[in-house]
Amino acid sequence: MCGIVGYIGKNEATPILMEGLEKLEYRGYDSAGVAVIVDDKIKIKKCKGRLKNLEKKLEKEKLPGNIGIGHTRWATHGEPSDTNSHPHFNKSGTLAVVHNGIIENYIYIKEWLESLGYEFQSDTDTEVIAHLLDYNYDGDLIEAVSKSIDKIEGSYALGVISEIEPDKLVAIRKDSPLIVGLGEGENFIASDIPAILNHTRKIYMLEDRELVILSKDGVEIKTLEGMPVEKEVYNITWDAESAEKGGYEHFMIKEIYEQPKAIRDTMNSRIMKDSDDIVIDDINLTAEDLKNINRVFIVACGTAYHAGMVGKYVIEKLARIPVEVDIASEFRYRNPLIDENTLLIIISQSGETADTLSALRLAKKKNCRVIAVTNVVGSSASREADDVLYTWAGPEIAVASTKAYTTQLISMYILALYFARLNGEMEVEEYRLIRDEMLELPDKVNKLLEDKEELQKFANNNFGHMDMFYIGRGLDGAVSLEGALKLKEISYIHAEAYAAGELKHGPIALIDEDIPVIALATQNELLDKMISNIKEVVTRGAKVISFTLEGNTDVGKVSDQVIYMPKTISILTPVLSVIPLQLLSYYVAVHRGCDVDKPKNLAKSVTVE
Ligand code: AGP
Repeated sequence: MCGIVGYIGKNEATPILMEGLEKLEYRGYDSAGVAVIVDDKIKIKKCKGRLKNLEKKLEKEKLPGNIGIGHTRWATHGEPSDTNSHPHFNKSGTLAVVHNGIIENYIYIKEWLESLGYEFQSDTDTEVIAHLLDYNYDGDLIEAVSKSIDKIEGSYALGVISEIEPDKLVAIRKDSPLIVGLGEGENFIASDIPAILNHTRKIYMLEDRELVILSKDGVEIKTLEGMPVEKEVYNITWDAESAEKGGYEHFMIKEIYEQPKAIRDTMNSRIMKDSDDIVIDDINLTAEDLKNINRVFIVACGTAYHAGMVGKYVIEKLARIPVEVDIASEFRYRNPLIDENTLLIIISQSGETADTLSALRLAKKKNCRVIAVTNVVGSSASREADDVLYTWAGPEIAVASTKAYTTQLISMYILALYFARLNGEMEVEEYRLIRDEMLELPDKVNKLLEDKEELQKFANNNFGHMDMFYIGRGLDGAVSLEGALKLKEISYIHAEAYAAGELKHGPIALIDEDIPVIALATQNELLDKMISNIKEVVTRGAKVISFTLEGNTDVGKVSDQVIYMPKTISILTPVLSVIPLQLLSYYVAVHRGCDVDKPKNLAKSVTVE
């Protein structure tokens, strides 16, 4: 989605804006621009394409000022073009604005402004904000922003500057993320933390409709009614390095290799070797609360949804509570049967996915208790849910989610164990067995990360295919969906995941020597069935690479290639089996010369419907 950076302070704004926009590239964009106040005049440079195009414009004409706003645009209204890129400005050029989100009533506002004589340059929804600010400006920028916001419906994160008041930068958000960075003699706004991490670790997380006034010496936050707002300062512990590639060729492979640490960190202080307690600080669900819960819904999108599918299995198996899993964009429109006896778990790495947040808000309206499983501290999901279980994966920059997924799985296990212990479904001996196996996972993942030759061989031999099948049963079926998504989104190969038992009901008609099959066979109680399914596709000419646990040599005998994974208990195998699938997708995509970290058409966080 769009990225916003704003700066006011003792240093030149332009280099800081450009550096911040670069750190936000992962959000996906198709144009970029900056506005800087130079000698009390707003100067704007903006253009279609990557940041390097903007850099070329800035080399021709530098913008030496100390206050500015920058933007990377992921088009929603109006095609990618120089004119449609941000910042947008009023006719006299005295005001400039950058925006992330969608103004849902922009057509109505545009027609009204045109009836007043305003002329529009672009096809965007955002430009209405620039002219609305102009209309409402009467010598007080803060007032103009407040009045304009009252007219706007939809989602927004805004940064606004005025050459008439060059000593302030005004910002506000609703439904789109925006943070404030607190410096010494300088202050910042940004869509996400990595954009300003080289300059400050102290940030404010903004709530919806909080008005922020930045000067070089301070930050003031008010409600739209003008009441002062006290904010907690978050100290960011990530180092700048951890938001960079750390010596890896791509963020994705770096994040794949960060999984042992991310998994360990997510378990840390929650499940411990020498304790039978499960400690989840931000969850206040009591045994009494759980008694009143007769159904759990897990709602998410994409990879997070796949983690939810595993969550269903483990919560039902361990806590014996019925669980439904749904895609957020479906859940929110199907008038789901939820009420105060329903527990909604939303899973979202970014905590800003529009459909997932809408599902959360729908559930709150129906008096459901909501737990958010998210990777971003202070994200909208974390602040709007009743309880939060943070995945401690650290910043996930690559569009294709990897460490967020495995830490979401860990979160599902932790919640399932927590519920099972709370409602008495699990004796302490069973808990200790699962806990000890979980604590072994980081080392087992490490072992898998070292075992990549077979995967590279498969990638070398198969990267030219345009179709692949992923098959599995039970939990392996859920992980197959995630494996197929990884391959699709970074290598652009059409990969389909199918319940292995379903192949004979149609899809096997597609199988031949041109369609490699990736078979997951980790569920020992289903092994014989899986071996039969592998034989079915081999008989029809498919080349099969299978993933199974050490010792299951019968699977290897019927497959062209086999990856043996360290043994663990059945319900924990998804944390292991997804690792080679992530690596496989990565190697295939690299072979195909794809943009692994920023795949075409995709954004890291889908903050619009
Ligand atoms: C996964 O690799 C994709 N990037 C995408 O499916 C992602 O999982 C989905 O958009 C949900 O994002 P969230 O976890 O931030 O809500």
